[in-house]
Amino acid sequence: MIFGALITMSWFVLCSLWWVAALTIGIPLTVMLFVSKTFRSSFFSWFFVYIIGPIFQPRTIAPRRKVFQILKDSVSDRDKKVPLEVLEIGVGEGPNLQFYPENCNLTVLDKNKFFESYYAQNAKKFPHISYQRTVIQPAENMNDVADNSLDVVVSTYLHCSCDDSMAVLKEVRRVLKPGGKYVFLEHVCYPANEFGLSIQRLINPIWFLFFNGCTLDRDTAAKIKRAGFSEVICDKYISTDWWMYLVRHQIIGVATN
Ligand SMILES: C[S@@+](CC[C@H](N)C(=O)[O-])C[C@H]1O[C@@H](n2cnc3c(N)ncnc32)[C@H](O)[C@@H]1O
Repeated sequence: MIFGALITMSWFVLCSLWWVAALTIGIPLTVMLFVSKTFRSSFFSWFFVYIIGPIFQPRTIAPRRKVFQILKDSVSDRDKKVPLEVLEIGVGEGPNLQFYPENCNLTVLDKNKFFESYYAQNAKKFPHISYQRTVIQPAENMNDVADNSLDVVVSTYLHCSCDDSMAVLKEVRRVLKPGGKYVFLEHVCYPANEFGLSIQRLINPIWFLFFNGCTLDRDTAAKIKRAGFSEVICDKYISTDWWMYLVRHQIIGVATN
C-alpha cells in the first residue's frame, strides 16, 4: 500500500516536471510538435524506436507472447499447410515479428510512413514470415485491403493513438473473412476510482504531442465489445513494473467476426 502510494507520487512529480520542462527549456520542441504533424510523426518514429523502445519493448514481451498464443490457439484447427492470411495494423517498427508462427502471409499497415525504413530493416531478421505488402494508410480507411480477405487481423498498442477506434473496428470487420479473428493488445485507462487516472489526464496533452496522438485514458475494451463481433474475449493484464505506470492497465483478447 505504502509502496504503491510512493510509486504514484513519484509519477505525479515526474509528470509535473515534464509539463514544466516542456513549457520552459523544451518549448522549441513542444512548439514544433504542436504546429507540425509531419514533424510529430517523424519525431515519434525516432523517439519510439531509439528512446522509448529499449524501455518499453522488453517490458511488453509477456503480454505480446500471450496475444500470439491466443492467435495460435484460435487458428489451431486449420489445415497447417494452408498459409494464414494475416494483417497487422499499426505495425510500427515490427516488434511483433518475432512472435508470428510459421506459414503466415503477412501484410502490414501503418499510417506513419516514417516507420517504414525501421520496419523494413527489422523484417530482414525474421525470414520465417512470408511478407506480402506494406501499406501506408490509416486503419480507419484501408482502401488497399480487400473485403473478406484475411484470416486474422492483429493490433498491439494501436487504439490509444488512432483518430477513430470505431471506424478502425468497422474496417477490421470488413477485411476479415466470416469467422476470422481480430487479436488485440492495448493499454487502457485506469479504473475511475484510482488516482492513476488523474495522472494519465494530467500528462495527456503533453503525452499526445510526444507520442503522436497517443491518449492514455481510453476505454478500448468497451469499444471492441460494441463493434458488432459475434464473440469477444477480453482479459485484463496489469503490469507491476514502475516504468509501465502510465500504461499499466492493459487488455488482451480475441474477437470473432
Ligand atoms: C504506440 S505505436 C505501437 C507500435 C507497435 N504496434 C507496437 O506494438 O509496439 C502505435 C503505432 O500505430 C500506428 N497507428 C496509430 N494510429 C493508426 C491508424 N489510425 N492507422 C494506422 N496506424 C496507426 C502508429 O503510427 C504507430 O506505428
